[in-house]
Amino acid sequence: MIVGKREMMASSGPYHGEFLRRIETIPTHGLGLSVDIYDPDIASLRRSLQERQVSPAFLEVFRTTPMALASARKEVGNGLLTYHGEGLWLTQPEMVDSTTFKQEIAATAEQLMIVQSAWVNHECATKYLAGYYFGTYLPPLYTPLSAQVVADNTRLIQHLLDQQCRLANGSTPLVLLEMPPLTYFVAGTMSIPRFFQLVSEQAPCGLVLDVGHLWTVFRYSGAYRAMSLTRFVEEFLNEFPMDRVVEIHVAGLAVHASHRILDSRLKGGRGEDTLPAWIDAHAAPIPPVLFEMLDQILCHPQLTSLKGLALEVDTKPIELIVNEFAQFSRRYEALFSPQGNGAQTVPEFEPCSLSEEPRSISDMQTLGVAYDRYAQVLAGKTEPVGPEWSQDQASIQNLDYYRSVYLPYEILHWGGKVEDMFVESCRRLSARDLSLDGFVTFWFSEPRPFPGTYDFFLLKVERFVEFVHQVAPELRGIAEREAEELRCAYRFANEPNVLLYEG
Ligand SMILES: [Fe+2]
Repeated sequence: MIVGKREMMASSGPYHGEFLRRIETIPTHGLGLSVDIYDPDIASLRRSLQERQVSPAFLEVFRTTPMALASARKEVGNGLLTYHGEGLWLTQPEMVDSTTFKQEIAATAEQLMIVQSAWVNHECATKYLAGYYFGTYLPPLYTPLSAQVVADNTRLIQHLLDQQCRLANGSTPLVLLEMPPLTYFVAGTMSIPRFFQLVSEQAPCGLVLDVGHLWTVFRYSGAYRAMSLTRFVEEFLNEFPMDRVVEIHVAGLAVHASHRILDSRLKGGRGEDTLPAWIDAHAAPIPPVLFEMLDQILCHPQLTSLKGLALEVDTKPIELIVNEFAQFSRRYEALFSPQGNGAQTVPEFEPCSLSEEPRSISDMQTLGVAYDRYAQVLAGKTEPVGPEWSQDQASIQNLDYYRSVYLPYEILHWGGKVEDMFVESCRRLSARDLSLDGFVTFWFSEPRPFPGTYDFFLLKVERFVEFVHQVAPELRGIAEREAEELRCAYRFANEPNVLLYEG
């Protein structure tokens, strides 16, 4: 399913010329770091890098508050910053019709203006699926109809940014889609590289190829049982639209903390699994195998639009970041030649064209039903049957692991451990023999409309109060008090000046 045609594919279609015009305006960025502004603190990290004389040519920052981004901009002076967006959920057929979508685009445009980023990278993935919320990214359904929706939404986002976001050099940030990781499973009817080829044929976007994500495709598509890693990478790249790759990411991989709970379940039952059960893990060290894959990727003859190569190091100890970046710089310093480093002349502004063809309502309904089924499968409410789900034993076991171990762990630990957040409520629930497993069931009990900006922490706070109200109404007051304290602390952590002004 993952690999197909052997010959290399060059991008084509009506939007490739537009992509080429846009990419001309983007200067070479070189070797960079993709960071979390808070963790580790960006100023301390920059100091440590300077002491080792290994300064990155650019920093990619994740979506946060405008105030935090403004202070990051001030911290780096005239240095290059790029932007990793979040919350546009462009894989979802219903998203663009929501009022939230327009607010999210406006917020993205505002943040891009602060950062002055040449691109907005967004995972081609979602954390909100058919009314259900997840803590980590879910890949799209890899189907032709889903690719069409991703392309339509990407064109719309580019069009809106063209209207709302003009950088100081006169250009508009280019929308980049990042191929997401697989977290134990994949769903779809077509190969992943072919999916991105279809998207690229129908939108002028660039792409981000994340080497660790590619390793998880090798691992969880089951390709590793049929071929070597080298051959997998070769066949994957030959089908992937490599001439659209604008940025490459390299990040850590690790066995997830939940894995300790049921270690044996990923073994496939017959001991045939020889690869570790790694998933994307930015805090973890980068395994050497990813640099072997990167070397192979960098040799690909159609990698003609590459502007930046970044280690993703958010939430990682500073010492490890500095060591990894020093090694990385030595290994790849010759990659970006000094010629052409300056920003190119920006040609006459050309807004992204939108398709004349209205979306077919029945296509949207079909995809909506497919995503609804996808969410139901993940929530354990229905079984993974039908053309989108592989029926081989290892795939079923991996999906089962995601549903029964990883996902509950995510609800109870990701973005804040429930037991540490609601100490008193949890103690009293425990005294009544009420297990927190019930909170996971409650979480997926029914779909909810999208309320506004996605914030997993705040959602968890809200849902836990509702859960307590349902299972132990007499504890609601305690849960509400703890929730208010959590919201207040969270607000202060994100915008420390807010309380000072208010108070
Ligand atoms: Fe990435």
